[in-house]
Amino acid sequence: MQREVFRIAIDGPAGAGKSTIARLLAKKLGFVYIDTGAMYRAIALFCLRKGIPVADEEAVSQTVADAHITISYQDGQQQVWLNGEDVSGLIRTEKVGNTASAVSAYPAVRAHLLDLQRSLAASASVIMDGRDIGTCVLPEAETKVFLTASSAVRAMRRYKELKEKGEMCNLQEIEQDIIERDQRDMNRAAAPLRQAEDAVLVDGSEMDIDQVVSAIIQVAVSHGLKVESGVWR
Ligand code: DC
Repeated sequence: MQREVFRIAIDGPAGAGKSTIARLLAKKLGFVYIDTGAMYRAIALFCLRKGIPVADEEAVSQTVADAHITISYQDGQQQVWLNGEDVSGLIRTEKVGNTASAVSAYPAVRAHLLDLQRSLAASASVIMDGRDIGTCVLPEAETKVFLTASSAVRAMRRYKELKEKGEMCNLQEIEQDIIERDQRDMNRAAAPLRQAEDAVLVDGSEMDIDQVVSAIIQVAVSHGLKVESGVWR
């Protein structure tokens, strides 16, 4: 029987370029891009707004039940909705990112988002990025990539991004933040960040975006992805 969908899982540490690469891949292949980090960020925003101390697992776990997260697409861009409010722009701050890293360690938070993530990938070919896509969310994904880069390279990219937005920032602090975030994401008990056994490691430290995109397409082609009448499947 012919395979109906092709799923590409991209995991890796903060700032490795997952979302940029996944977005480009989705456009090139005509797949849907699913950014799971945005869902954890929406939960983080909800907790911050409610004044829930993120170190209080019980309080966060109880609160999460009231956070209804949905996803929609506009011109191929993912929009994240929190209880009916489009929070796509509001979740893109360092504070929300660091809070997301903290609350995502709690099993209740992860369980709250798992069905949504799996259901989005059930009926369409997708590129999904996050920390546990290849290991937990889509263990049967046709292609799994672990995308990484050195912390110095990741910090420099982030620094440039923030500078362009006109935000005050300090390179050392950004690198320290990235290292701490990696430690938290890798050392938690629930679905920690790690390379799945069958994932292909791509180190983008010395590669440009197009090279990474091509490398991932090559991996996917070696796993059965093909183009037929201009349609990737
Ligand atoms: O990719 P990001 O920076 O938007 O993710 C924010 C945080 O969310 C990240 O530090 C860890 C958490 N996260 C996770 O635990 N599992 C995922 N699949 C995606 C993100």
